[in-house]
Formats: sequence, C-alpha cells, structure tokens
Amino acid sequence: MSCDPSREAALGVLELLSSLGPFKFVGLGTGSTLGFFLDAARGSGLSWSVIVSSLDTAFKASSLGFRVLDSKCSGAPEVYVDGADEVDGAGRMIKGGGGALLGEKILAFSSPLNVFAVSEDKIVEVLGSTRPVPVEIVKDYALLVVRAVERLGFKVEFRESQGKRGPVLSDWGGVIVDVHTGPMRDPESVDKSLRNIPGVVETGIFHGLADYIVVGFRECGYKVLKFERKTGRHRS
Ligand code: A5P
Repeated sequence: MSCDPSREAALGVLELLSSLGPFKFVGLGTGSTLGFFLDAARGSGLSWSVIVSSLDTAFKASSLGFRVLDSKCSGAPEVYVDGADEVDGAGRMIKGGGGALLGEKILAFSSPLNVFAVSEDKIVEVLGSTRPVPVEIVKDYALLVVRAVERLGFKVEFRESQGKRGPVLSDWGGVIVDVHTGPMRDPESVDKSLRNIPGVVETGIFHGLADYIVVGFRECGYKVLKFERKTGRHRS
C-alpha cells in the first residue's frame, strides 16, 4: 500500500496535537500539507479560532468554517502548524515555496509551540541541497538589493508565476526572489548575511524554531521528531 506522505504527516500532526492540547487558538502556515491538515481537522469536528500566515490560508480556513482572526490585533496562537520545503537533522528548515515566509516566520517566532509536517523526501543532510532560499525584499529598491545579495556570491532569480507577468509580490507587497545558495554548512550565518542587507525583509531559513517535526512516509505512517526550540538540537 502506498500513501501520500504529506497527508500522512498532516494526520500525524493532528494526532500529536490531540495529545499536547486541547487548543482553542491555532496559527496556520501555508501550503498543500497545511491544506491536508486543515481538511482533517475540520473532518474531526475541530473548530479553532485561527491566525493565518497568508491570504491563501485565510480563504481556505474561512471556507472550512474556522474563525479567522485579524492578525493586526490578535495575540499569539497557542500552537503554530506549518509545512516546510527542506529540513535537516537539526530541525533547520527552508520555507517560503509558497511566498508566505514573512507571515510564517512572524507566527513561528511568536508562538510558544511550533509543529511542522513534511514528507520524507524533504529531509536532507545539508540544507540548500535541493532548494534555493526564498527571500522577501523591498519592492522599490529590488534591483539594488538583488545586486547586494549577488555580491555575497549567490545567484538570484526573481520568482515568477504563470498568472502574472513580472515578479511575484508577497501578501505584504515585497518581491519574492530565490537565492541559490547551494548546500549550506552554516545556514545561520547565511541567514545573518542576507538579513544584514538593508532591504532584505526576511529569509526562508528557519532555525531554532521547530519544537516538533512530523515526517510522513510513502509507505504510510509517520514519525515525530522532537527538538529543543532554542538550539534546534534533535532530542530523540
Ligand atoms: C509556504 O510559503 C511554504 O513555506 C510552505 O510551508 C512550504 O512551501 C511547504 O509547502 P507544501 O506543503 O505545499 O509542500
């Protein structure tokens, strides 16, 4: 029997939350794995208030009947749930494949408990091996900022979509670029170098933010990895 590993991971997160909760106020990431999670939560009759990391998730959560709170005036959620694009053994991640990295990082940073769901193929030995790092930059100085990123030695591509000519703008109006770092031995220092550039709003390198990462398998089932939030070190 074979399963969709992202769905398996999402179902695993739901089971994990039922052992850690109950929760009433949940932060929601963005992406297809998060979509599986929301469908399953709704199917189980859960009715949280939610704060969302993107317009996409706002629409999805709202259409499923969740109460979507205004991010401008709501507090931190009790738990934040999201997917990721790449994960290494220390629980560091590349995120932002959906262009929502800014909202995602703010919510993950603010939440006291963070749970991520990924399919097994997203686990890598060295972060940056299979994916570029999404970065949000200030629109009005985009070319100058891109030149500065290139001076760090990285190739930069403007993200484009099929539904619009020109670069993808995030829900917050920034330009999304993909920075080809290659495998990163020290992702924290790459993150720091990028964020040192004026005009870089945020990067898709998430370190020290995972409490749990649930990995779903193609052969069905999942496993739960526990991390120390501050150090990003894997506990068991
Ligand atoms: C959205 O901006 C991303 O950070 C997503 O969390 C990530 O791309 C995972 O998406 P999928 O669950 O669709 O693979």
